[in-house]
Amino acid sequence: MHKVIAIYPGSFDPPTNGHLDLIDRGSKIFDELVVAILRNPEKSPLFSVSERAAMLEALTGQYSNVRVDTFDGLTVDYAVKVGASSVLRGIRALSDYEYELQMALMNRKLRPELETVFMMPAEKYSYLSARLVREVAQLGGSVKGLVPELVEQNLKGKLDPAYKLEFAASEEQKSESRKSRARKKS
Ligand code: PNS
Repeated sequence: MHKVIAIYPGSFDPPTNGHLDLIDRGSKIFDELVVAILRNPEKSPLFSVSERAAMLEALTGQYSNVRVDTFDGLTVDYAVKVGASSVLRGIRALSDYEYELQMALMNRKLRPELETVFMMPAEKYSYLSARLVREVAQLGGSVKGLVPELVEQNLKGKLDPAYKLEFAASEEQKSESRKSRARKKS
């Protein structure tokens, strides 16, 4: 049977609950969904592409039809490469519409057979963006409930020097007690 494959391209810096909401919805309507992280050397991201991929892999592990990949170049070329017939994008508010329409129509001009499918995340995430999450976290605000706990911890590890020291100290302590157990055994 013909499998309907979609890509969900984006920056995902960092993945938010809005992204995960869309992945959940997309996984229900497509046979296969490829979450595709753009490798964009021009931007200076908060999380490296491999950090974002690792987070998304951990966060989507429960879906058997979702996989995570990275790409560069044109989205339409990447879609062809993985055999996708659709591009999934989220629309939160009217303000997203113009940019998304432009992108969808440009992609259609480049590859008329590729369909863009827009889905709306749950309304509780309608104001949420990765950019705002980065800004709030960088300025010391709480992003609880806006990103998964794993992302919240990783943001803390990246941005909060005190947390970083605490984390490093607890890692060192763990390593010391491992060494001392090994010494006692031998
Ligand atoms: O999460 P974002 O940053 O809104 O995602 C934007 C993305 C990655 C979908 C867009 O920038 C993109 O498709 N980039 C790849 C280059 C490309 O195909 N450009 C033409 C799009 S019309």
